[in-house]
Amino acid sequence: MISELKQELTNMINDVNSLNDLQNIKVSIFGKKGRITLLTKDMKDKTIEERRQIGQEVHQLKEYIEIIIKQKELFLIEKKINDDINNEAIDIYLPGMEFNSGTLHPLTITRNEIESFFNSLGFAVIEGNEIESDEYNFEKMNIPKDHPARDMQDTFYFSVEELLRTHTSPMQARTMEANAPDGPIRVIVPGKTYRRDEDDLTHSHQFMQIEGLVIDKNISLADLKGTLELFAKNIFGSNTKIRFRPSYFPFTEPSVEVDVTCHVCHGQGCSVCKQTGWIEILGAGQVHPNVIDNCGYDSNVYQGFAFGMGVERVAMIKYGIDDIRLFYNNNLNFLKQFDKIK
Ligand code: PHE
Repeated sequence: MISELKQELTNMINDVNSLNDLQNIKVSIFGKKGRITLLTKDMKDKTIEERRQIGQEVHQLKEYIEIIIKQKELFLIEKKINDDINNEAIDIYLPGMEFNSGTLHPLTITRNEIESFFNSLGFAVIEGNEIESDEYNFEKMNIPKDHPARDMQDTFYFSVEELLRTHTSPMQARTMEANAPDGPIRVIVPGKTYRRDEDDLTHSHQFMQIEGLVIDKNISLADLKGTLELFAKNIFGSNTKIRFRPSYFPFTEPSVEVDVTCHVCHGQGCSVCKQTGWIEILGAGQVHPNVIDNCGYDSNVYQGFAFGMGVERVAMIKYGIDDIRLFYNNNLNFLKQFDKIK
């Protein structure tokens, strides 16, 4: 009878396929009403001899069954681990997840390029504040309160004294004052500027400028021209030419407007350059003696030149962009085109 039970239990255990089922079988064998437990249920009715006999056999059966359960358990655990590994296996032939990396903004690309050119000529890069005082934005730049030049550069005011700077030129004054009364200066100042303009294809109420300032002894307009000629060839291509047109800024004398040959028609005349063959990129001039004297240098000893260029302008020419607003409205189709550039 015990040997039959042994065979039956062994078959059950052999047939089981999951740890869960095995656990249930364990209970059905060793639990309170388990098959083996029940074998010793009515021992009290047996003789001593019978008890010893049954006790021994049950004990042996118990040991045997415990061992094969343990073995089965180890087998099932290992099987489960292998199954899990196989189910979780990484299919290296599946396509990977797309990784969207960003790109530099075209204005940043352009700014970096301009900065590294001027760095190579020994210019330092400094930055100023976007909130300026009337004094530095206008007065120190030789634009007194009722000067008509203020009309061209209306801006956003915080108070009578504080405003969003209309150009990076106030940094001319701040840099001179920081270095006065002696010593040469060679800096460029990139940064945001603001004007109360209507936004259209070529105007924006917020745009970016790069100011340039050189102060030294014996600086002439020829130095300005040589510097800007190199700049234009470096940024727009080696066959680019520049020309100076007379102009007016209160803080430079003489003042010039600087054009580069049109990158599309190379000077022949086309719709981009309005048939002139030239495109304007910046304003410049010899630093006005009043500005030099206002800022602590002696204009009898020191001269200088300054320029202010629109970064959007440069980028639009370089990349053939026809609407300035594209720089600001975060259209990914536009921005993604610049991921091939630097
Ligand atoms: N600040 C001028 C502007 O914003 C540009 C300029 C800078 C002109 C330096 C001359 C010298 O229009």
